[in-house]
Amino acid sequence: MAQNWNAKSWRDHEARHLPVYPDAGKLNAVEDTLGSFPPLVFAGEARALKADLAQVAAGKGFLLQGGDCAESFAEFHPNNIRDTFRVLLQMAVVLTFASKQPVVKVGRMAGQFAKPRSSPVERQGDVELPSYLGDNINGIEFTPEQRIPDPDRMLRAYSQAAATLNLLRAFAGGGYANLRQVHGWTLDHIAKSPWATKFGEMADKIGEALDFMEACGVNPSNVPQLQGTNFYTSHEALLLPYEEAMTRQDSLTGDWYDTSAHMLWIGDRTRFEGSAHVEFLRGVGNPIGMKCGPSLTPDALLRMLDTLNPAREAGRITLISRYGHDKVEAGLPALVRAVKREGHPVVWSCDPMHGNVIKADNGYKTRPFDRILGEVKGFFAVHRAEGTHAGGIHIEMTGRDVTECTGGAVAITQEGLADRYHTHCDPRLNAAQSIELAFLLAEMLNLEHADKKAEAA
Ligand code: PEP
Ligand code: CO
Repeated sequence: MAQNWNAKSWRDHEARHLPVYPDAGKLNAVEDTLGSFPPLVFAGEARALKADLAQVAAGKGFLLQGGDCAESFAEFHPNNIRDTFRVLLQMAVVLTFASKQPVVKVGRMAGQFAKPRSSPVERQGDVELPSYLGDNINGIEFTPEQRIPDPDRMLRAYSQAAATLNLLRAFAGGGYANLRQVHGWTLDHIAKSPWATKFGEMADKIGEALDFMEACGVNPSNVPQLQGTNFYTSHEALLLPYEEAMTRQDSLTGDWYDTSAHMLWIGDRTRFEGSAHVEFLRGVGNPIGMKCGPSLTPDALLRMLDTLNPAREAGRITLISRYGHDKVEAGLPALVRAVKREGHPVVWSCDPMHGNVIKADNGYKTRPFDRILGEVKGFFAVHRAEGTHAGGIHIEMTGRDVTECTGGAVAITQEGLADRYHTHCDPRLNAAQSIELAFLLAEMLNLEHADKKAEAA
């Protein structure tokens, strides 16, 4: 257990990107209410994810983490949850089939509401208002009333997270994720992508393999892995009053867990030394992610790892690099070398989204698909050169047919962005772009695999 830590000790540290609530009494009342609510996840599940991630850290698996940039109250709909879940399943099947390695599936879902913003204020014309901070804090409408932080929003976010998680658990274990359904996961609107045909061909091969195994006596009733899957949840642990209220002592081990999600991560803007967010997360037993951007030095990273994982437990830490397509190959090697030299067991994952945002000519915030792919390629090249495992991908995506990122085989143009631009924050890959990325990633994983085989021979 962490030394000199309790669920409130973050309050004595510097907390950036937290809202200032005008009504402290109301905030306290909401914190008490949340503290009396049931946990959303069980500590044993967080430990199971940690064990899965320990395998990835050892080079035996791949982490697929994805979902909305910001979940919203407006987009809360069972079809949205289902469609994002099924695109993640499709991506996982593509990656597993190609790499012959287990894929650990983690949604940016069921709790990903709060957002750090580059500016505390937003200006439209002559009017300046506080920025939108996520639906669990204030409203996106550009009015003074909506932009006031309201603690009651945390209660609504809790209910939405609970209902989302309930549906995800039902899909993962109730038959929807049965590998026999692999054809049925294909969404109608991705049919126009050439990658949909490729997915269909792969699904046929999986069907044949299942037929063969069934003839040999292997079927979903005696091998539960064929029937369902493990699916975990995660979000940025930004809104500390909420995270603190959801933190409970595990009755089995006596350790503390943040029961708002299986995995929590620290954003690039809140991972500085002395940060309240680092202080909070060092004491909970969940697997922890940390974003690593260009401002992070190798020494600072090593100090952070000593703080967050003094016992060097494998699976505890996932380092999520987010440099930008043109910076990853210059910046990442120094971090990878330092971590390898000191023997820290980490999962290296690639966030190819947050370093690749541009403003389109018509004002839309977007991410070109070729830059996203460029960063992933750079990430794999670095790990290949350093002899380390490119262990995962962290993406902002949705199962909806949105037009938020340009490019890909579906060729979304800058003019086309206006058609279906729905995100509450950053631009997401749509279903077709996500599947395309999975196939291209699979090729890169295969190269890593071939290298390892050649080494072993
Ligand atoms: C995010 O993941 O939504 C995010 C804000 O990322 P970062 O902390 O890497 O900027
Ligand atoms: Co984002």
